[in-house]
Amino acid sequence: MMKYSLFKVKPFDQLMKEASSDTAGLKRALSATNLIFLGIGAIIGAGIFVLTGEVSANYSGPAIVLSFLVAALACACAGLCYAELTSMIPISGSAYTYAYATLGELFAWIIGWLLIVEYLFAASTVSVGWSGYVVSLLRDIGANGIHLPAALTTAPIVYDDATNGFIRSAGGIINLPAIFIVFVLTLILVLGVKESAKFNNVIVVIKVSVILIFLVAGVWFVSKANWHPFIPENTGKFGSFGISGIFRGAAVIFFAYIGFDAVSTAAQESMNPQRDLPIGILGSLAICTILYILVALVLTGIVSYTKLGVPDPIAVGVDAMNNGFARTVLAPLIKLGAVAGLSSVILVMLLGQPRIFMTMSKDGLLPPVFAKVHPKFKTPYMSTIIVGLVAMVLAGLFPIGVLSKLVSLGTLLAFASVCLAILILRKKQPDTPRPFRTPFSPWIPLFGIVSCLGVTLFLNIYAWITMGVWLTIGLIVYATYGMKHSTLNKNKEAL
Ligand code: ALA
Repeated sequence: MMKYSLFKVKPFDQLMKEASSDTAGLKRALSATNLIFLGIGAIIGAGIFVLTGEVSANYSGPAIVLSFLVAALACACAGLCYAELTSMIPISGSAYTYAYATLGELFAWIIGWLLIVEYLFAASTVSVGWSGYVVSLLRDIGANGIHLPAALTTAPIVYDDATNGFIRSAGGIINLPAIFIVFVLTLILVLGVKESAKFNNVIVVIKVSVILIFLVAGVWFVSKANWHPFIPENTGKFGSFGISGIFRGAAVIFFAYIGFDAVSTAAQESMNPQRDLPIGILGSLAICTILYILVALVLTGIVSYTKLGVPDPIAVGVDAMNNGFARTVLAPLIKLGAVAGLSSVILVMLLGQPRIFMTMSKDGLLPPVFAKVHPKFKTPYMSTIIVGLVAMVLAGLFPIGVLSKLVSLGTLLAFASVCLAILILRKKQPDTPRPFRTPFSPWIPLFGIVSCLGVTLFLNIYAWITMGVWLTIGLIVYATYGMKHSTLNKNKEAL
């Protein structure tokens, strides 16, 4: 018997066959516009509506604009590499598939395991943020407001930054609104990808309109004095303003860009994947980068960055406009936009994860149930339901802080691997048609690797420790299940 190879790569011809056949049973229903909307749906969310405040107040000041630019540069490199790979290998496994084709099975498994952190954990993280905004929106309704009991809207445990990640029990029992939104979106996703895309399109129109209204209304209230000093002096602590603050800010605000890569998980549901996937990835990333930089400029121009350290910084910007229109129309609109924005992030994350699981299951690394496609709805329904259930448990029991740090770290590592895959495939498969080519290779992929890994150094040590534990669990699952069932390594003896 031959030996099991942890580093065996999936043959390119086999991948191309899988990509071109429609045997996956999914429905090719998504156009280029759908894909751009899918990307925007996944990108604009907690990052801009929540984290902008923390970053400008604690790390960058008005130079949050530069933090957004630094993070955008890293994402642009990764985005270009994603565009090349997804046009070459349009399979819904995304970074996992690219790693299988270049770095071998063990690395592919690790990347797949990291993508769970990006997609499934992000869905739960953002649904906790959704719950917070809904609770606050309900409070604003009518004369007395609708007040939901705290015990049913907060997690039973909290993550305390002050005690460096120590988890202690709080007054909450369960976060029911967070569970509710995951339940509703899971249901929509089971019913069909076209239906999900339509729902996403509506939400994207709402959230982008709200942002545009904020920009148009806010620009009249900008006072240049608020931009001085543009880069506040470093307080003596690394990462607290000054140049190091810009980079610390970039590491935190990176979360705002996560999601453009989710477009690649819809590869097998795209009508013209080789042309449309790069358009979806790069188009959504470009639109969001422009919107983010404009929001950051206007927000820090309306109100001093020192006042933005709150969970709803955009609402603080609206308050600072201090006029009737802002108070009565804009303020509730912003909250509505945030609720809509967060909903579509959760939707696209819950759409991406089952499709990655499906690909891993077809490779034998996960049980066959993950690849089951519904005969009528043509969606990977079992995998969608399993992902929904796990996301509900996480969303109901854990607070944002525990999971969100992990999401950025997992995503950055996955992005770096995608850039590396470009370098390897350009050497190993120089002649394979590439409908989209990353320009200035090898420089852009190299810069992508360095910048993504560089940004991880600015995340806190606890994210790394939690990641270590998560990866260890992943390796145990691989050793006990994946290695026994891998299709690629079938009939080989384990090492
Ligand atoms: N980019 C997504 C957000 O900001 C994950 O919510």
